[in-house]
Amino acid sequence: MIADIDLGQGLRLRTLTTHDVALVVEATGTETARALWGPHPAGPYTPQDARAALNAWDPAAGGQVSYGMLEHDRLLGALGLMVDGPRSAELAYWVRPESRRQGLALRGINALTRWTHDELGLDRIWLEINPANTPSLRLADRAGYQYEQRLPHHCRAWTTPDPDRDTWHDCMIWGHTNLTTSPAI
Ligand SMILES: CC(C)(COP(=O)(O)OP(=O)(O)OC[C@H]1O[C@@H](n2cnc3c(N)ncnc32)[C@H](O)[C@@H]1OP(=O)(O)O)[C@@H](O)C(=O)NCCC(=O)NCCS
Repeated sequence: MIADIDLGQGLRLRTLTTHDVALVVEATGTETARALWGPHPAGPYTPQDARAALNAWDPAAGGQVSYGMLEHDRLLGALGLMVDGPRSAELAYWVRPESRRQGLALRGINALTRWTHDELGLDRIWLEINPANTPSLRLADRAGYQYEQRLPHHCRAWTTPDPDRDTWHDCMIWGHTNLTTSPAI
């Protein structure tokens, strides 16, 4: 699950580790909503928050791994891969507020989707999107993902740590399959 991909024009996509606490604190400094590493609440991460998040996403533990989009030593955004089966993983993404609408997420998703199919050998990568999140829905379409289904009350808003007292909303599921490993017709 260790990646280090040159995205061109000084942008690099690499696995984030527990050593990247300062990067996450700096990158989330202007965020008012939730960033990538749920279930952290809305807003900036303290060093303690970032340490806890990166521990939960430690590549050495497997399961879920986050990848940073870096320009020099500045974290512009991050993608998360959550393996949920032998050949399947969920993908999540976040770009820091001041770096949005510059094509960063699209470049990152395109590169990580290809890498996940080619290098990890996963057949299916999928997204869970809130129906109200128009930027994410358009991005999924632009990145070549296919809309699959709407699951009622499937996703948590994470307004409280207690799942029974939280708000649950519908989720749109989008998928991307590796055509090169699909069974021959
Ligand atoms: C969704 C998000 C990752 C998009 O990142 P980004 O780097 O700004 O996206 P890009 O610049 O690569 O945009 C690529 C395409 O996505 C769509 N898009 C992105 N932001 C959009 C917006 N605010 N409104 C409408 N479409 C948007 C457009 O089709 C865009 O292509 P275009 O610029 O040629 O029109 C970013 O807004 C974000 O981090 N949001 C908060 C976290 C989040 O919602 N994550 C997804 C959870 S499911």
